[in-house]
Amino acid sequence: MKKLLLVFGTRPEAIKMAPLVIEFKKYPKEFETLVCVTGQHRQMLDQVLNLFDIVPDYDLDIMMKGQDLYDITTRVLTGMRDVLIQSKPDVVFVHGDTTTSTISSLAAFYQQIPVAHIEAGLRTHNFYSPWPEEMNRQLTGRLATWHFAPTMLSKDNLILENVKNEAITVTGNTVIDALHWVLMKIDKDPTVENSILQTMEFAGYNIDRLKSNRKIVLITGHRRENFGEGFHNICKAIKTLSETFTDVDFVYPMHLNPNVRNAVNEVFEGKKYDNVFLIEPLDYLPFIYLMNKSCFLLTDSGGIQEEAPGLGKPVLVMRDTTERPEAVIAGTVKLVGTDEQKIINFVSDLLLNDEIYQKMAQANNPYGDGHASKRIVDYFLNS
Ligand code: UD1
Ligand code: UDP
Repeated sequence: MKKLLLVFGTRPEAIKMAPLVIEFKKYPKEFETLVCVTGQHRQMLDQVLNLFDIVPDYDLDIMMKGQDLYDITTRVLTGMRDVLIQSKPDVVFVHGDTTTSTISSLAAFYQQIPVAHIEAGLRTHNFYSPWPEEMNRQLTGRLATWHFAPTMLSKDNLILENVKNEAITVTGNTVIDALHWVLMKIDKDPTVENSILQTMEFAGYNIDRLKSNRKIVLITGHRRENFGEGFHNICKAIKTLSETFTDVDFVYPMHLNPNVRNAVNEVFEGKKYDNVFLIEPLDYLPFIYLMNKSCFLLTDSGGIQEEAPGLGKPVLVMRDTTERPEAVIAGTVKLVGTDEQKIINFVSDLLLNDEIYQKMAQANNPYGDGHASKRIVDYFLNS
């Protein structure tokens, strides 16, 4: 029997690793499946664990308010040393490009335990965009033995870095597995919608507005390289847009990072706007529900660039680079940067010009069929 340790710590890693935990646990004779959370995020991680009913075997609980990269790095490294010495797994699974994933991979390397990298091969080739994620994912790629690439393009990136063909498996992205799981849950159980509406009200978005079918622009933002001027521009653009388009609701579930909240509060100065909703981060289920009800998304998030095309929702990405060119090529995602006037122009186009909107609103999902986790588990069943 193989002993597996799946390690993650932030909201997006949890969302994308949960389907894999569920899939591995279907094979208790073949695998002992252990979960370690670093707790790089706390509340935003715990809501995902609750949703997917995952009880971690280890919890490093490292999060500190306003932590910097050195805090995360050192606390994950020493925490993982102890977990690895105690649990002695045959394989360590990490996801994507967070500091949790890179440092857990390094900790595994120090114990000579092989690493499987999920969502491998995404690249912008610019170390400062996104920062520090591009370096994180390249370092993790160097440390990993197995690379599970979501698309052919991500496989090509790895081949160009001399990763051996036989070490790479193209699987699709597990985020689509999670998305299907959530949509099925909303569909299957009629009581779920009520609890979603309650959560939304609690977070700060009025249910009556949701029921009145107003157009919704759903906004998120948290990238470190956008702190300061970038966030200022983004918020000023939202403010101007809300004054121009009074029939549209601009709903912004704010990341808990104080750097994000301070920038937002500086621009909006704590004033109430009729059609701007600066709300608490939503749990994953209500967030997907709201994404489905929204007209389009304005974001710097990675995961949202993968989910929204699956729901036929255009995405304007407030970044200069993306490691996810597939949806840009498919036409559903557009890079708009963080220039205030450019954001205003692109959002206005989507709100005013139906031809532009319809062109982007194709249900074009280049990220898989919702069976990525099964492909990863099959690989280990057969090897
Ligand atoms: C992290 C990842 C980023 C990922 C993002 C997803 C790194 C360096 N960054 O960035 O790659 O895209 O998560 O959201 O790995 N906080 C809370 N509660 C929470 C979560 C965060 O209070 O549940 C606050 C804390 O003050 C914390 C701060 O947010 O110190 C920043 O969290 P951190 O993980 O350092 O950075 P993120 O910007 O969330
Ligand atoms: N998300 C969520 N609630 C929110 C905002 C986002 O559940 O209020 C989900 C979203 O659906 C996606 C993931 O969080 O799956 C993206 O996380 P984030 O943008 O924080 O990180 P990134 O993907 O950029 O690493």
